Amino acid sequence: MSSKIVCFMCNWAFCLEEMEVPKNVNIVRVMCIGRLDPTIVLDVLAKGFDGVLMVGCKPPDCHYVEGNLQAERAVKLLKKLVALAGLEPERIKLEWYTPFEGTSFIQHLKEFSSTINALGESPLKESPELMLNILAATLGLGFFLEGRKN
Ligand code: FES
Repeated sequence: MSSKIVCFMCNWAFCLEEMEVPKNVNIVRVMCIGRLDPTIVLDVLAKGFDGVLMVGCKPPDCHYVEGNLQAERAVKLLKKLVALAGLEPERIKLEWYTPFEGTSFIQHLKEFSSTINALGESPLKESPELMLNILAATLGLGFFLEGRKN
């Protein structure tokens, strides 16, 4: 099975290996991983993707001061929410990446892909109840985040 994965990647954690990204992984660039609305991660799962990898600059290197740490808090919350909804929290992962340390971005991707392959296809596709839970979590998180702005 080839899992369907979305990888949200900070534009500044740029990667020279991008041409080698496997076809089952969709890379979406964001200006800072902390600017990614966490409800989008739940939306992606609801749309049938099997896993979401978020890649941000390795602390303390964030061009927006602490966007990466903000993303870390968001991922903790997202993992709790999906677990409550009945989905494996391992389907969401945050990685720090810097191209200057000689670590391979492709290696991170492969590791995440094997985790997702081991979990199998997202059960959301077959379970209307689980889908409702994820949609409710998305809505609840959206209200929560909106309330914090006011
Ligand atoms: Fe890369 Fe913030 S600029 S994580």
